Amino acid sequence: MFPAKVRLLHRILRLRRTCCSPSFASSSRLVLGIETSCDETGAAVLVETGEILGESLHSQKEVHLRSGGIIPPVAQQLHRDHIERVVQEALERSSVDPSQLSAVATTVKPGLALSLGVGLKFSQRFVRQHNKPFIPIHHMEAHALTVRMLQPLAFPFLVLLVSGGHALLAVARGVNDFLLLGHHLDEAPGDTLDKVARRLSLIKHPQCSTLSGGQAIELLAMDGDRKRFSFKTPMGGIHDCCFSFSGLRNQVNMAIVKEEAEEGIEQGTLLSCVNDMAAATQHAVATHLAKRTHRAILFCKANGLLPSSGATLVVSGGVASNQYIRKALAIITETTGVHLLCPPGKLCTDNGVMIAWNGVERLREGKGILPPDVEVRYEPKAPLGVDLTAEVKAAAIKLPPIKLTIIN
Ligand code: KG4
Ligand code: ZN
Repeated sequence: MFPAKVRLLHRILRLRRTCCSPSFASSSRLVLGIETSCDETGAAVLVETGEILGESLHSQKEVHLRSGGIIPPVAQQLHRDHIERVVQEALERSSVDPSQLSAVATTVKPGLALSLGVGLKFSQRFVRQHNKPFIPIHHMEAHALTVRMLQPLAFPFLVLLVSGGHALLAVARGVNDFLLLGHHLDEAPGDTLDKVARRLSLIKHPQCSTLSGGQAIELLAMDGDRKRFSFKTPMGGIHDCCFSFSGLRNQVNMAIVKEEAEEGIEQGTLLSCVNDMAAATQHAVATHLAKRTHRAILFCKANGLLPSSGATLVVSGGVASNQYIRKALAIITETTGVHLLCPPGKLCTDNGVMIAWNGVERLREGKGILPPDVEVRYEPKAPLGVDLTAEVKAAAIKLPPIKLTIIN
């Protein structure tokens, strides 16, 4: 079929859905979600049933990959360049006019200040222009709740959120009711994987030139022998649920330096053992995440924080798309009798849909909905929920030994 005809057909189908779909009945509320907290400009329109009417996403990944990491003013400029188009596209693909929206939900915390500022400024202008309620969104709350858009899942449940900016374990007790059991103390796991990938110059690897650090490490690790290098799991002597990855990165860096000397190559050249290095790094990250999660499950069981039968662990955030890490966590959940849920990879990484869904959840409960003219500030640092990390540490739960034998 000719492209013009295909476009026309899509348009007719969209119009038919607009007129006829029961989920789009006039009583169904529609939420526009906007995400700009890091390096993705995302927007989506959702019906309160969870149906995605249309979305658009612009990723800055390739630009930051080439410059060796996110440079905040560059990210800010890219958000400015794309936000108008991305929001417009999401609305057009939904065949929704701004007047039909019930609210606009936007990430305002935590994240990069310059990136958050673009989404917030755009959204505040938009809600004032169209006289719509505004719902400020906590990015990690949105990651935690996404799974409820895909299937029924009652509160409370345990969440492990792992991304380029965060690692945290929390009990989700309600839409805006979280108990924080552990968080990252230095760098986040995605950041560590990105930095190791950069140190290994994986961008020069023919299979990895367009992949994020975490994706590149997962791909190369599939053909690697993780036992060739043995990295110590972080924080073995500290019996809490916090995470530390900077020491692990140091261990990996030292091993890379040693291998470069042995192979007689300069930094910036691909090592011949790059697959093994990737596999050993991924295994150490997976083991650290699995052990802290295991302790969190035991803490929840000891304190009655989760249902005694049918407890659920939700894993989300960019790093949660890693299959090896999912398998490590599956060993823990099987051993402890907990149900494991992970949204599909596309919904684990940052996007507008998860923000719109968080808006739907808040709209349904009437929580945190502001009139259009209220001045809202962004918050680059914003902890999630009530901090129980001291109680978790004081409980000092020792883990029974579990063998993490993960087959790729
Ligand atoms: O959630 P996200 O899209 O953005 C942040 O809020 O940080 O996560 C991006 C992070 C990056 O550090 C990237 O390397 C990592 O998620 N990541 C992965 C994988 N895909 C993305 N890490 C491990 N394995 C993957 N397959
Ligand atoms: Zn994220």
